[in-house]
Amino acid sequence: MTAPLLSIQNLHLKMSSFDGRAHVLNGINLTVNRGEIWGLVGESGCGKSLTGLSISRLQPTPPAHYVAGEILLEGQDLLKLSQAQMQRLRGKRIGMIFQDPTTNLNPAFRIGEQLVDVALAAAEHDAGVLDCPPNAGRRARRIAARKLAGDMLARVGIPNAQARLDSYPHQFSGGMRQRVLIAMALIGRPDLLIADEPTTALDVSVQAQILELIKNSVNDFDMGVVLITHNLGVVAQTCSHVAVMYAGNIVESGPVAAVIGSPVHPYTRALMSAIPTRETKRGMLRGLAGSVPNLIVPPPGCRFAPRCQFALPACTAAMPAAVPVGNDHAAACIRVAEMEALVHG
Ligand SMILES: Nc1ncnc2c1ncn2[C@@H]1O[C@H](COP(=O)(O)OP(=O)(O)OP(=O)(O)O)[C@@H](O)[C@H]1O
Ligand SMILES: [Mg+2]
Repeated sequence: MTAPLLSIQNLHLKMSSFDGRAHVLNGINLTVNRGEIWGLVGESGCGKSLTGLSISRLQPTPPAHYVAGEILLEGQDLLKLSQAQMQRLRGKRIGMIFQDPTTNLNPAFRIGEQLVDVALAAAEHDAGVLDCPPNAGRRARRIAARKLAGDMLARVGIPNAQARLDSYPHQFSGGMRQRVLIAMALIGRPDLLIADEPTTALDVSVQAQILELIKNSVNDFDMGVVLITHNLGVVAQTCSHVAVMYAGNIVESGPVAAVIGSPVHPYTRALMSAIPTRETKRGMLRGLAGSVPNLIVPPPGCRFAPRCQFALPACTAAMPAAVPVGNDHAAACIRVAEMEALVHG
């Protein structure tokens, strides 16, 4: 049996800050296969970005401390690689799109040069990235890389793309820069794409176009995707699977239709009922009572227990393990079996 594309096993991460050490990832388990788009959702501060940054190993240590666990890319533990080895994987095997586009383009270089550099580096790992023979000379490879850069820029919806390759980042709007970063992440045909709120800064029509591009790229390049978002609409529209995070744990995961269609964890249910629908009357929108816990002194056992209307004394004894509730669908709650009855009874 071949190893899954990405397998995160029991990942524990602590972050040092002036206030102390926060236990921000508390035993994350996540498996992503090629062809799958996993949405990673949850409230602000629950550890979505740090999960993504851990996979790409872009979170400096310190302040990060990997306390336990493994992050396996086709069986190879990324946590055991040196930064130099990681650098060789980034852009080629792992593509990344980040929350803040302004910090990720070099202001001193033209957009085209930055895309060409990534394409040439990726072609060293996978000659198929460039449309030219593998033994082509330097000049021919550069020409092919520039053609590819223009094509990618056009695919992310930049008008007049070939000419815009000569622009500098400051000549692009924020939304256009974000699209350049998406082109940059896809140009090397990564096996795994980590996209952290890739469309938050974009207007709705461009957002739909980018999500469509990510979906098509999954088919074209046979990649796997981790799509971090707080927008369940984006998940429903784009993802095949979803993992719901709460305070450093994945509390529920599985195929989108199962998790969104029949959520079982009390947190997922609360998250869903906080979304307005056409039937929601004014003033009826239910927020989630309480706030995200302090992760320096996290609540014992299930971290959601202090806010959970179904909590029992046993919930604070130990962090509940993920219990299967259907095909590939699992929830970390000791009361999942009773949930249907509790909610409707
Ligand atoms: N550099 C850092 N130093 C100390 N603590 C940090 C650091 N970065 C993040 N944290 C803490 O780790 C927790 C998880 O942060 P993370 O950025 O992963 O959240 P998130 O789920 O991506 O939230 P958002 O939806 O707001 O982007 C937060 O409680 C945050 O305060
Ligand atoms: Mg984040």
